[in-house]
Amino acid sequence: MTALLAIETSCDETAAAVVVDGRRMLSNVVATQVELHSRFGGVYPEVASRQHVLAIQPVIEQALHDAAVGHVRELDAIAVTNGPGLAGSLLVGVNTAKGLAFASGLPLLPVNHLEGHIYSNWIDVPGRPALAEDEFPAVILIVSGGHTELFLMTGHCQYQRLGGTLDDAAGEAFDKVARLLKLGFPGGPAIQRVANGGDPTRFRLPRALTHDDAHRFNFSFSGLKTAVVNLVRQREEAGERIDDGALAADIAASFQQAAADVLVSKTAHAATAFGARRVCICGGVSANQALRQLAEQTFAEMGRPLHIPPLALCTDNAAMIGAAAFYRQQTHPDYRGDLALDVFANLPLA
Ligand code: KG4
Ligand code: ZN
Repeated sequence: MTALLAIETSCDETAAAVVVDGRRMLSNVVATQVELHSRFGGVYPEVASRQHVLAIQPVIEQALHDAAVGHVRELDAIAVTNGPGLAGSLLVGVNTAKGLAFASGLPLLPVNHLEGHIYSNWIDVPGRPALAEDEFPAVILIVSGGHTELFLMTGHCQYQRLGGTLDDAAGEAFDKVARLLKLGFPGGPAIQRVANGGDPTRFRLPRALTHDDAHRFNFSFSGLKTAVVNLVRQREEAGERIDDGALAADIAASFQQAAADVLVSKTAHAATAFGARRVCICGGVSANQALRQLAEQTFAEMGRPLHIPPLALCTDNAAMIGAAAFYRQQTHPDYRGDLALDVFANLPLA
C-alpha cells in the first residue's frame, strides 16, 4: 500500500489530499479563491500566490486530519504540482512540499498538472464503476481554463499528443464570453446556469477546424469568441440589451452548444481513428452539463466506453495529483524530485 500526501497550487485553488494506491481518496480538501478574484474578473496572479501562502498550511492540516493521518511521516511520499501554471502560485506548493519532504525524509514527487487531470479519471468514486487498469489505447481530452489538449494514451503514463488548441483554451473562451455577457467570473458555471433557460439553436455560431484535415485534432476557439463579440455588438446596435435575460440565455446556450459540438466531434474522430477502448474527458470544462450530455449520447451511440470524473474531480484538486504521482512511480521507478526542484509555467506532458 502506498499513501501519498498531494499538494496542488497551480492556479487559484489551494488543495491537498491523501491518496492510497492512486485510486482511493482518504481526503480531498480544496480552498477556492474564486470570491477573491471575482472583483478583478479573472485570476490575479499576485493575489493568488499570496492567498496560497495563507491557505496552504490549514488546507494540508485538514487533509491529514480528514484522512486520520497523525503525522506526515506515516505516509510514503509527498507529491506536488510543479507545472504548468502560474509560477508564483506553483512556488508556494512546491516550497511547502520541499519543506515537508526535507523534515520528514519522505520522497518528493513532482507532478505535471495535465497528468493530474488525466488521472482524475482513475480515482475510485463510490457508486460508479472504477476505470479498469488495461483500457488502452485511450483517447483523452483535457479541457480546462489553460488547456485544450487531445492525447492518445497507450499505457499508464504513456502519451502521444494528437493535437490541441491553436489559440484560446476552451475554458478561457467560456470565461471571455461570460465577461461579454456580463455574467461574472468564473465564466463556465455562469454560462451553464444562464444557458439552461436558453435556445441553443437560435444563433448558429462557428465550429472551427471541423472540416480541416490538416487540423483534424486541433482546436480553435478565438473565432467563436469573436463571433459572439460581433453578435453582441449587432444586437446592441439594433437596440437590444445584453443584460436582458432572454438574449443572454440564447447566446450563452448557442455558444455552449458550439463549444461542446467541436470538443465532442474531434474526440469522437480520434476515438475512431485510433480504435480507442476508452474515452476520457477531464479538466474544469468537463464539469459542463451540456458537454457531458452530448459526450454521453455520442459515445453511447458509437459503442465506445466514456469516462468523465465526478464534478468535484473535474476542476482543480489535489487527489488527481496524488493519483498521477502513484502511476508515474509505478511506471518510472527512479522518478523522484529533490530540493532543487523548480517550477515551470509551461511544462509539456512527456
Ligand atoms: O481545470 P480547471 O479548474 O483549472 C485549470 O487547470 O485551468 O479549469 C477551470 C476552467 C475555467 O475556465 C472555468 O470557467 C471552467 O473550467 N469551468 C467550466 C465549468 N466549470 C468550470 N466551464 C464550463 N462549464 C462548467 N460547468
Ligand atoms: Zn487544472
